[in-house]
Amino acid sequence: MAETWKPVKLAAKVIGHISQGMYRTPAGAIKELISNAYDAGATYAKLHTSFPTFATFSCEDDGSGISKTKFIQLMEGGIGDSEKQATAQAQVGKNGRPTVGRLGVGLLSLAQICPRFKIRSFHEPTRTAFEAEIKFPAYSRQEIDRIVEETKENQAKIIKHGEYRYSDISYEKGKHGIIVTTTALRDMFRKTMSNLETFAHSRFWQSSESYPTFERFIDAIANPGLSSLYFASQYDQLLFGLALASPIPYVESDSKGEGLETILLKVPEIASLQKQLKGFDFRVEVDNIELCRPVVLPSNKDRIKAADCIFPRSPRNVTFTLKDGVHEEEVSVDKYDIGVKGRDYLFQIFHFAYSKTVNGYPLQFSGYIFLQTTRLFPKEYQGILIRLRNVAIGQYDSNIMNYPLAEGPRFSMLSSEVFVQHGLDDALKVDRDGFNSLDPQYIRLQAFVHSILHELIFPGSWEEEKARNKQRRETRERETVSTFSTKLKQATKKQFTKIEIVPKAKGQNPAELVQLDKSTGIVEIYESHPEAKHVLGHKKNRGIAARVVAAFEVANREGTVEKRRKIFYELIGEIFNE
Ligand SMILES: Nc1ncnc2c1ncn2[C@@H]1O[C@H](COP(=O)(O)OP(=O)(O)OP(=O)(O)O)[C@@H](O)[C@H]1O
Ligand SMILES: [Mg+2]
Repeated sequence: MAETWKPVKLAAKVIGHISQGMYRTPAGAIKELISNAYDAGATYAKLHTSFPTFATFSCEDDGSGISKTKFIQLMEGGIGDSEKQATAQAQVGKNGRPTVGRLGVGLLSLAQICPRFKIRSFHEPTRTAFEAEIKFPAYSRQEIDRIVEETKENQAKIIKHGEYRYSDISYEKGKHGIIVTTTALRDMFRKTMSNLETFAHSRFWQSSESYPTFERFIDAIANPGLSSLYFASQYDQLLFGLALASPIPYVESDSKGEGLETILLKVPEIASLQKQLKGFDFRVEVDNIELCRPVVLPSNKDRIKAADCIFPRSPRNVTFTLKDGVHEEEVSVDKYDIGVKGRDYLFQIFHFAYSKTVNGYPLQFSGYIFLQTTRLFPKEYQGILIRLRNVAIGQYDSNIMNYPLAEGPRFSMLSSEVFVQHGLDDALKVDRDGFNSLDPQYIRLQAFVHSILHELIFPGSWEEEKARNKQRRETRERETVSTFSTKLKQATKKQFTKIEIVPKAKGQNPAELVQLDKSTGIVEIYESHPEAKHVLGHKKNRGIAARVVAAFEVANREGTVEKRRKIFYELIGEIFNE
């Protein structure tokens, strides 16, 4: 490598971005490399973390590569001045991929995880290859502030930030793409990554190896025992973050129906999105496992599979009123009610599409809201995820864009993705991790989501939940009464076969609280008896109380203490062992 280090020059506006604190999680920084490979027309990005030591890191792609001239341009003031989105129109790359890059700061974010790295580039059109090394300093807050001040005073367009050097290497025929490597991972990154005490693979599969398949990874993180990735290792979080963020297809079972599955693909619009994503022909591998969009739904405690769900043939059309300040409009969406074989669960998917001019520019998005009957695992699936050009912006937001009302546990049962086709570019923050919440287009999207939840989804789900709980209580009660009856029959040698709570309306002025009717074999308990209120207690315990009372009365008919005790214990045991 040529020994001459040269200063890296940046467009001055970038320092503003740096000073805004481009803090990213490791996944947030690494996903920039994936986006760059994708923009460069690669068919894959292969990442190696050197698990479990994390001493080195590399990312290789088979994209266009970069010519030396272009690279030098980049180092000499090109950073922060991406050529990709010079026009307002979204650009389209290989296989119709919407181009992700737009600022020219993605590479800079790598400084978050390593202060120096190497690039090797193979550029087919010019049949040249080079190797370069780049150092980005870690500035302190004060230093950044000083630089910002200086650039203001000088009106300088270019500032110096770090150093680079490069040299030619021999071009291998037919080879194209870039390899980024580093052995200088920041200590923080290396230490937190190599702490594998909470590695989900070892917790649930007793393995200290990295995951053999993506399926195994999903199995581990969706384990209800984990509940949140927060309790898993940084490595688990990295895999999840990259799988979620990348412009890659959803998990999908093979032609034999084997493998992971998500109910989402049953929605025609999402099936066609999947087709489009597959058509981009882009794969991401981390430590030799191929990643997919990890959104495996449903994902509940009972680990119900998509294959066990009963999906309706067609959706129902439902409407709600979108309220955004003074703006109001009726919006109609598709609702799918999803049953589960042999269970009383009811899952729901609402699919929507919206297209309007907002603030003078087109805003167009589509998406879904999935609602489970119980909590979603891991917690990282809960909330809403916004994607711009198929790349996730941040992670799932469990606050649902600052939803203003308390909705209790239902937030933990909801998982949503919004796919933005047009608009919101100006609202995007530099770190591509979130949006400016004052942007009018963002506000419209927020109003859409809040309105559909508040007006349509939550009121409906509340009613359904109440009805389901009532039904469950009744079923349970019926079942326990019937097992108790069987036991009663045995204990009394068929003299008594049933208990019945006689409601107030039917039995007025009974002589006793309990009457044993030998002719019918029924133990009757009268609600109208003055003692009933006290003995039977609260309505939800009434069934149990009635059975205890019946057990006592039936046992009491026996002649000896031993026999009374034996029958009473037998029946009591049955009640509390239910
Ligand atoms: N893997 C790659 N293959 C080919 N060219 C690349 C690759 N990575 C980066 N480049 C070139 O380097 C430039 C800078 O990349 P960088 O990620 O910093 O900016 P960007 O992708 O243009 O915009 P953004 O900051 O929004 O990501 C790119 O515009 C591209 O020309
Ligand atoms: Mg980029």
